[in-house]
Amino acid sequence: MNQIIKPLSFELIPSNAPFNDAQRSWLNGFFAGFLQLDGTTPLPLDAGAAVLEGAAGDRDDGAAPWHDQTMPLADRMKLAEGRPLRRRMMAAMAQQDCGQCGYNCHDYSEALADKKELRLNLCSPGGKETARMLKQLYEDIDKAAPPARVETVGSPTLAPAAAAAATPPAEAGRSRDNPVMATFVSRRLLNKNGSEKETWHLDFDLAESGLDYVVGDSFGVFPKNDIGLVDQVIAMLGASHMTEVKGKPLRDVLRDDVSLSPAPDALFELLSFITGGAVREKARALASGDDPDGDAANLDVLAALQKFSGVRPHPEAFVEVLEPLQPRLYSISSSHTATPGRLSLTVDSVRYMIGKRKRLGVASTFFAERIATGDAVPVYVQRAHAFGLPKDPATPVIMVGPGTGVAPFRAFLLDRQATKAPGRNWLFFGHQRSATDFFYGDEFNSLKASGVLTRLSLAWSRDGKEKFYVQDRMREVGRELWTWLADGAHVYVCGDAKRMAKDVERALVDIVAQHGARSTDEAIAFVGGLKKAGRYQQDVY
Ligand SMILES: Cc1cc2nc3c(=O)[nH]c(=O)nc-3n(C[C@H](O)[C@H](O)[C@H](O)COP(=O)(O)OP(=O)(O)OC[C@H]3O[C@@H](n4cnc5c(N)ncnc54)[C@H](O)[C@@H]3O)c2cc1C
Ligand SMILES: NC(=O)c1ccc[n+]([C@@H]2O[C@H](COP(=O)([O-])OP(=O)(O)OC[C@H]3O[C@@H](n4cnc5c(N)ncnc54)[C@H](OP(=O)(O)O)[C@@H]3O)[C@@H](O)[C@H]2O)c1
Repeated sequence: MNQIIKPLSFELIPSNAPFNDAQRSWLNGFFAGFLQLDGTTPLPLDAGAAVLEGAAGDRDDGAAPWHDQTMPLADRMKLAEGRPLRRRMMAAMAQQDCGQCGYNCHDYSEALADKKELRLNLCSPGGKETARMLKQLYEDIDKAAPPARVETVGSPTLAPAAAAAATPPAEAGRSRDNPVMATFVSRRLLNKNGSEKETWHLDFDLAESGLDYVVGDSFGVFPKNDIGLVDQVIAMLGASHMTEVKGKPLRDVLRDDVSLSPAPDALFELLSFITGGAVREKARALASGDDPDGDAANLDVLAALQKFSGVRPHPEAFVEVLEPLQPRLYSISSSHTATPGRLSLTVDSVRYMIGKRKRLGVASTFFAERIATGDAVPVYVQRAHAFGLPKDPATPVIMVGPGTGVAPFRAFLLDRQATKAPGRNWLFFGHQRSATDFFYGDEFNSLKASGVLTRLSLAWSRDGKEKFYVQDRMREVGRELWTWLADGAHVYVCGDAKRMAKDVERALVDIVAQHGARSTDEAIAFVGGLKKAGRYQQDVY
């Protein structure tokens, strides 16, 4: 294809869209600026190169005091004040090192700064807050001339120089950028009747994809939106299902390609443009992160359209302002060594009410109700950065995994069983009620009977009057835990990042202090040392 390089001049608003010339020109300009966030268009290519200098050039000491997933964004940014841009970018991220962006927080910010990664909107746990901050950080340095772009039919793409700087295509099935198809085999409910939870064991066949994995890895899955929600959105637009957008029926685009979850700033911006007066002011306020009615956090795309129900954006413009539908990551709960060509997940269905409407977690309910046996799904294996069994199969392991956090530990145990690893294995599992929420109870009991699972410690939070969590059980058996640590055990924690992971770490510090005869500071340093040595690993989300 002959490519002509010239300054930004693409048309995103089709000539037949119902706008006059001035409106079309404004919208084209608006999208050109805004699409820097959409994950498909490039950031400015040469802006601020000096500020974006890499580690070697900017004399940063590498410390990251903001690297705490429980710290609010404002506090993290404060700690990063005066640091080079790449460091402030890291502080803007959610600090979970969860891998959903395809990196850990440090590497994502470095990749952005080195212009190897061009998408600012990949930090899922950081959500709109992180995306806004990253955009703002870029705007600080975006004083240079408009970038050269390659004119092609459709969306603008990278100029050759930038394309060369971008990361080469990832190996098939090993990155969110290059998924392969896997076949869904079956689902089985792990909770018994009467549970407040709905958690599924899911099986996939990897045979055709040729993919494999090691325990500790995660599985990335591209879900589809609920068609009921899609149809409600189409009704609010007053459009037909069959309206063509980007060469596909609108209904397919809304189901497969775009996020209908938090309403993006760009949607409010678009709504503000096609209305007037107080309504426009309200939409503008929402677009800039204000919360005029105190409901901003609850506005998914449908709720935003309902809030501005008199305003009907054109489907083409509407689809352009939505974020791409992102893949979700899940800890793999099977061992490829034990069951080659197969992969399992353990997924909790996310469902909750906002006002009178039931909201559905996109991927988890896709697994629970929308995917059928034999369906092919786009997937990839996300290699764990630092979460996996010790190299020496004789090393003891302590695994702490309440709720779905147990997923990778089922995999660890099945792997150690398959490889006849001699190391001892201790699992702490907890959930709401023993009668209904003991996931894989039969399997764990039989692994215990066969000697693979040396110890199984359980904590039921809602069986008694008082909450009782895995860390309470750990404290009860602190002396033995300390003995395992003294024997060189590796400790693993998986599950909720916001509260559980911190609480478990605190419990371990207390155990080290009490049973290892250390002061609190020494115990904190001891646990820090375990982390540095790769003996304390977390997979939290
Ligand atoms: C490395 C990694 C491993 C993971 N492993 C697992 C696993 O093994 N099993 C598992 O189940 N999950 C796991 N997750 C989480 C998983 O990726 C998804 O985030 C989860 O399934 C929800 O996705 P969803 O698409 O269903 O929900 P989404 O559509 O993404 O909705 C979730 C969002 O809904 C909102 N929300 C949820 N509940 C409420 C509520 N009560 N009130 C208001 N808002 C609410 C929150 O904003 C939340 O972020 C893992 C995540 C990571 C990063
Ligand atoms: N961000 C959050 O605040 C939060 C909290 C929980 C779950 N989640 C998310 O919800 C999804 C599904 O969760 P799940 O099915 O894995 O189970 P879960 O809801 O995390 O619950 C598993 C068990 O952990 C207990 N628990 C709650 N707080 C704890 C703490 N501070 N320390 C130790 N244990 C604690 C729960 O008890 P009780 O429920 O009885 O208190 C329950 O017994 C996950 O994506 C998870 O990240 C998020």
